[in-house]
Parts: sequence; structure tokens; C-alpha cells
Amino acid sequence: MAFCSLIRIFAVCWVKVFKKKDIMSDRLYVFDTTLRDGEQVPGCQLNTVEKIEVARQLELLGVDVIEAGFPISSPGDFNSVVEISKAVTWPTICALTRAVEKDIDVANDALQYAKHKRIHTGIGTSESHIKYKFNATPEEIIERAVRAVKYAKRYVEDVEFYAEDAGRTDNEYLARVVEAVVKAGATVVNIPDTTGFRLPGEYGEKIKYLMEHVDGLSAGKAILSTHCHNDLGMATANTLAGVLNGARQVEVTINGIGERAGNTSLEEVTMALKTHPYLNIDTNINTTKIFPISRMVSSLMNMPVQPNKAVVGRNAFAHSSGIHQDGVLKDASTYEIMNPKDVGIDDNAIVLTARSGRAALKHRLHVNGVDIDGERLDTVYEAFLRLADRKKEVTDDDILVLAGADRSASHAIKLDYLQVTTGMGVKSVAAIGLSISGEKFEASASGNGPVDAAIKALKVIIRRQMTLREFTIQAISKGSDDVGKVHMQVEYDGRVYYGFGANTDIVTASVEAYIDCINKFK
Ligand code: KIV
Ligand code: ZN
Repeated sequence: MAFCSLIRIFAVCWVKVFKKKDIMSDRLYVFDTTLRDGEQVPGCQLNTVEKIEVARQLELLGVDVIEAGFPISSPGDFNSVVEISKAVTWPTICALTRAVEKDIDVANDALQYAKHKRIHTGIGTSESHIKYKFNATPEEIIERAVRAVKYAKRYVEDVEFYAEDAGRTDNEYLARVVEAVVKAGATVVNIPDTTGFRLPGEYGEKIKYLMEHVDGLSAGKAILSTHCHNDLGMATANTLAGVLNGARQVEVTINGIGERAGNTSLEEVTMALKTHPYLNIDTNINTTKIFPISRMVSSLMNMPVQPNKAVVGRNAFAHSSGIHQDGVLKDASTYEIMNPKDVGIDDNAIVLTARSGRAALKHRLHVNGVDIDGERLDTVYEAFLRLADRKKEVTDDDILVLAGADRSASHAIKLDYLQVTTGMGVKSVAAIGLSISGEKFEASASGNGPVDAAIKALKVIIRRQMTLREFTIQAISKGSDDVGKVHMQVEYDGRVYYGFGANTDIVTASVEAYIDCINKFK
């Protein structure tokens, strides 16, 4: 009996605390759009299996909503929303639409397996969108917005509305749009600074204006969401200004990836709130999962994280000046405002060498957000041993590249060998061997430098009208024996294809990147 009473008292207290938190509205919902807005970056497209891997890590990270795609845009996007809905349990799965009935029908179909689902519909509300995109009047836009929300409501309870280009929309008109869609049933209203134009004070003012002038918001019928782009480097500052003025959802991406200069980065916003606890704004994010997912997304999307990137960059916790090193050794708080462990940076890193076993490799990959087993682990382990034979120490960047390289195993065209003779004052000569769907081909050519010679030899075998459009070499980490990464863009038949290669030999990495492009030709 005493035990039961105790449980009841505990339950009542818990409900009281929970309710109090709710009333104070200090719970901030984190809406991750890495797989939709983030994935729109040219060259960063993921296949469905890779998207599921990211979605599972987002679930472990504790995001509230995963925007899984824009189902009407392509069969691939549709399928990804279906498969992510099956793979993930706790977060709400969200699908994007235009304010168009067909889009909403397709989004609803794609969400059929989601345990918690949301349709995210919307329309442009700024003067330029109304005039040039829609050739409509402001009243017609409100009608279309209301119609779309009501239509989506027939399928799902949880409907989010976005007022595209809200950043440049007149506040008075925006308040009328928000009032109308909340009345129509929207539970979240997204206020995107689509062009990344606003300054933090202005964006904060906009949110404050809406909070004060839209009855449905003060009545608690819906919450406002931020969605900021980083064109002027203001995305995180604008998002925080929005939150401090009443927004209760933030739309973010891992590593801040996204179109042009990107979206607001999840790690910056959540760590800013954690580092300033007096703001009393809680998220559900387990911040120790931030670093692994950052590495995983960077590796899967072949999108390097800049070394000085806040929170997750390679140098974010590296103290190089003597004065700083001295201070940090005496007490970390002298120069560190965050504990690296809080974002999942494991400083007791195991150094991988040729003597490391599968378990050590598996552990390091896990720390970096990649979980593999069985045959796939065996393949990566063999590649690791080959690399470790050539290098003293194998770094995290190296093994992420190896795990990524494994994904191209199913390609039709493979590089068997490459031999290049080069030097100063002589022409470079390359001999190449390819296997194309199992058949062997060989060729040689000379060129203006080793990469030119190798690509010319490749073109002797692959006789297509293709033009190299962009060629970026990134040598990672520390030593001259490190893996170099190459990103390439090759134009063929009016389309541009993105390719990636990684190898300790930069000429081989370049040819691998070129072959990666060719394997994608349609
Ligand atoms: O930036 C934007 O306006 C968007 C909307 C489609 C939500 O991404
Ligand atoms: Zn956007």
C-alpha cells in the first residue's frame, strides 16, 4: 500500500513538472531537414539505403521531426520517405509539398507507414513570389494556402504550413496568412528566411510581431518554426533570435548543409542552448551523438566539414598557440566553453595501425557514426590492411573514406590498375586497365601532367563526348601519405555528373572520381 502511494505521489509530481514545463513552453522541437533541404545540394544526393542510415542516427540523436523528402519530386524521393517511415519509430516523419492537391495526395501515400506523420505544405508569400512566381494577388495566395492546409488536414492531424520567403514578406500581411492557416488547422507555421536576407534583430522582430498579432498563436493552437538560410552567415543567429522571441521549433541540418550557403546547423543551435542553460530552453537532443552523425553525413555526402566549423570542425577544440595550450593544460575552462565529450568527441582515440584488429576498426567506425558488420566489415578491413601497410597510422578520415569506397563496389566500370611515369621536363605517360562488366580493357596515352595522361588513357577506352567541368583535390589531415580526396564534375550529353575518388595516390583518386562520374551516366 505504502509502495502504491509512493508511486502515485511520484506520478503526480512528474505530471506537475511536465505540465509546468509545457506551460512555460520551454521545450524546443528540433526538425531536421538534412534529408530534404540538405540533400538538395548538387553532388550530395544519397541513395535510399544511405538515407535510412542517416535517419536511424537522427533518431538516436533525438530529433523530434525528420523531413524525409519531397515525394512528388521523384520516385527516388517518394521511395525514401516510404522506407524511412518504416525504419524509424519515435520521430515524426514529415513530407514536403507545394500547396497543390496532387502533391498532398502523393505525400500522404509516401507517409503510409509512418508511426507519426506530418505534411509540410506551403506557398510563397513575399511580394516578388506573389507577383513573379504565381502572378496572383495576396488574397488569392491566402485562399490557396487555406485550401492546401484544409486538404492536408483530411489526411493527417499534424499539418505544418510554410510561408516561403517569409523573411522578405511584409509583417502585417504575413500575420494575416498565419492567422488564416492556423484557423484552417495548421499546427506548426514555418517562417522561412528563404534567401538568408534578414539580420538577427529583424528576424527576431518578425517572430515577436507574429506572436503578438496572431490570436491563434497566443491561444496555443499552433507554434511558430524558424527555417533560416545562411547566405549572410546569419542562420544560427537568426534562429536563436526567433527562439528567444517565441518560436518553438527550429529547422536545421547536420553540418549546416543545404542549398547555396546552407541551412542553420543543428549542432550550433543545440550547443548554443546547452552552453547557455539560463535561457531555460530544452531540446531532446543527446548532444554526445553530434560528432558521430556529423562525420557520417560528411562522409556519405562527400561534403567535407571546414576545419574551423563551430562545434564539429577538426580544429573546433584544437588549441595551437602556446598560451592557450598552457592554459588548457592547467584547466580546460580557461579556453574551452564546451567539453568536447559533450558533443561526442572521443579524445581517448585508439590509434589504428597495421596491427589493429577488426574490433578496433569497427569501434572507430562506430565512433564516427558508421556501423558495419559481417561481409561489409570484412571488405573494409581488407582495404584498411592494404592502407595500413603503406601508412604508419590510419586516421579517422582515412577509414571513413574506406567505408565510403565500399559503396562503389557494385559499379559496372572498375579501375584495375594505373601506372604513370612523370617528372619535370618530360611528358607524362599513363597505362590503364579497366574492367567493364567483367571484361578487361587496356590503353595508354601521354599528356600534360600525370592526371591529364591518365584521363586521356581512360578516354581511349571510354569513347564518349565528355568534358571535365570541375576538379577539386583535397588532401586530408596531416602527412604526405594521407588519403587525398578528389571531387569532379563531368558533363556528358547535356547533364553534369558528380564523382568522388579517394586514394593515397592523388592521380589514382582523380581517375576513380572520373570513373565514378561515368558510372552514373544515364
Ligand atoms: O527555404 C525555404 O523556404 C524552404 C521551404 C520549402 C520550407 O526550404
Ligand atoms: Zn529552405
